[in-house]
Amino acid sequence: MTSATLFQNRRRFIRNLGLGAALFTVPGLFAEELLRTPRQTEGPFYPDHLPLDTDNDLIIVNDGATPALGEITHLSGRILDARGEPIRNALVEIWQVDSKGVYLHSGSNDHNQRDKNFQGFGRFLTGSTGEYYFRTIKPVPYPGRTPHVHFALKMKGREKWTTQCYIKGEPLNEKDGVYKDIADPKARAAVTIDFAPIKGSKIGELAARFDIVTGFTPAV
Ligand SMILES: [Fe+2]
Repeated sequence: MTSATLFQNRRRFIRNLGLGAALFTVPGLFAEELLRTPRQTEGPFYPDHLPLDTDNDLIIVNDGATPALGEITHLSGRILDARGEPIRNALVEIWQVDSKGVYLHSGSNDHNQRDKNFQGFGRFLTGSTGEYYFRTIKPVPYPGRTPHVHFALKMKGREKWTTQCYIKGEPLNEKDGVYKDIADPKARAAVTIDFAPIKGSKIGELAARFDIVTGFTPAV
């Protein structure tokens, strides 16, 4: 082999390596590595009448002086696309029962018992970091369901996307039909989150993080 041929072979080798690296960074391939948050049913209790106050503080309705009953929870996370990039301008909606297990929805059980100081529903529009934040209560069970918070994502030009999150360590999870419908243990883990006491909080507030990885591909 002449030194010229050796040189050419080497060039080819380096070129091939380069091609390999390029393939490795194709977004579609990388996306396969990410664990998607499982989609789950919207359920029957999305509010039939939206409250006048739809902000991200569910503990106080309008300018009310009395906060909702329940364990105050700071619920936050990021909305991500299929590559793990933050999604901006995603409208994040949550809804959940009050401390007595009652939804805002007029068809909810014991509707007349509802905690009028709990907003029951809230909205947050993400910015460039994809981050959302709600002040709400730790979810409690209601007949037939383990504690959960419903989420809907609404984005321009996209179909509505819904899921639910659950409390890590909650024994009722394993008896819950919707929860058990998520067959993959990793996908279950992705929707089962810690509600951890905040150090130094005198009123026993909790913090919970729930990142949502959608199957959406980035907007072009
Ligand atoms: Fe529900």
